[in-house]
Amino acid sequence: MQNFTFHNPTRIIFGEGQIATLDAQIPANARVLITCGGGSIKSNGVLAQVQAALGDRAWHVFGGIEPNPTYETLMEAVALAREKNIDFLLAVGGGSVIDGTKFIAAAVKFHGEPWDILAKQAEIRDAMPFGSVLTLPATGSEMNNGGVISHRAKGDKLPFRSEATYPVFSVLDPTTTYSLPPRQIANGVVDAFVHIVEQYLTYPVDARVQDRFAEGLLITLTEVGPQALAEPHNYAVRANLMWTATLALNGLIGAGVPQDWATHMLGHEITALHGLDHAQTLAIVLPAMLSVRRESKRAKLLQYAERVWNITEGSEDERISAAITATRVFFERMTVGTRLRDYQIGGRSIGTLIAKLEEHGMTALGEHGDVTLEVSRQVYQFAV
Ligand code: NZQ
Ligand code: ZN
Repeated sequence: MQNFTFHNPTRIIFGEGQIATLDAQIPANARVLITCGGGSIKSNGVLAQVQAALGDRAWHVFGGIEPNPTYETLMEAVALAREKNIDFLLAVGGGSVIDGTKFIAAAVKFHGEPWDILAKQAEIRDAMPFGSVLTLPATGSEMNNGGVISHRAKGDKLPFRSEATYPVFSVLDPTTTYSLPPRQIANGVVDAFVHIVEQYLTYPVDARVQDRFAEGLLITLTEVGPQALAEPHNYAVRANLMWTATLALNGLIGAGVPQDWATHMLGHEITALHGLDHAQTLAIVLPAMLSVRRESKRAKLLQYAERVWNITEGSEDERISAAITATRVFFERMTVGTRLRDYQIGGRSIGTLIAKLEEHGMTALGEHGDVTLEVSRQVYQFAV
């Protein structure tokens, strides 16, 4: 096992009815800015629950944070937060709203051009405190310190992270997910699955509990994913999905092990160029990534085949191929297409995707730093 420091300060308040406890989580004299997306929290009643819980506090709402939140929109929220003397942010929504709120929290206190937080990875020294009410199990943003922000004008989608941008708390009420369209449930399952794979499917370092924890989360997703699509109001299924997605990216399974993240970086470029959902890009890239890098991931692919998919028959190469196929079949069973052609893209933009990776310095990705632009090109080509 590798050396590590693990510290996660986010308080999780889990279960049906827990939105009412917001009153106890937020300072009584706070001036709150509720941040949200395009309206789902109004139609499903979550916003009304939040407002009731805030009681007499002064609050304002900033809506319109879009999927793949943009710098342009978030800077409008920064201006509003300053104008209204806001001192606490409350993100109510999915990963885009929470990521966007992390950026707002940092940008309000940032000296200089806030886009540098993304483009130059400028250090975030301070951020406004914020909490979240999660309505979409997928990203893990509710219990981590990262975010991914897009710049519409530049066509960029870039990640940032900081010790200052952990949520103070996150409320996870599985009933808030009942209103999710099937596409977003499917996206969430695929995203969480790939988060686990990025931290698990690298090379062995004898990290037994991280491996078994990761395998347990993966197996749980293979069970609850299809159930969540088939039974939208099954509380137990939604609860298991929600907690699994949080644990997939709260730092626990990634502590002390090598991490990959090349699939995510190649996926971000597809979203920036073609506007695909984040999880759709992962479903396209991951099977291709595993196929192209099967030699450097051989030992872990064999472990994954046996422990997650129960594949024990055949030669090593046959078992690895079967595990990659099982992964692709699972994503397709979740109704998420796994080829660029499923989204009418094909191979036409591979040159542009590679140029963008180069512009963003993504030239030595993966757990060994050996995913060069040439390897990335092979992955995109394999994914056509
Ligand atoms: O905008 P509203 O009206 O709220 O609708 C949203 C949005 O259209 C809708 N939705 C959310 N909760 C709902 C609901 N509709 C009905 N009922 C509900 N309960 O779902 C749509 C998608 O929402 P979004 O927040 O974009 O989805 P997701 O949670 O998948 O977040 C994706 C974003 O997170 C980033 C991605 O890159 C992407 O920008 N990621 C963040 C990570 C992190 N912070 O650690 C890691 C991930 O790898 C990922 O990159
Ligand atoms: Zn992701």
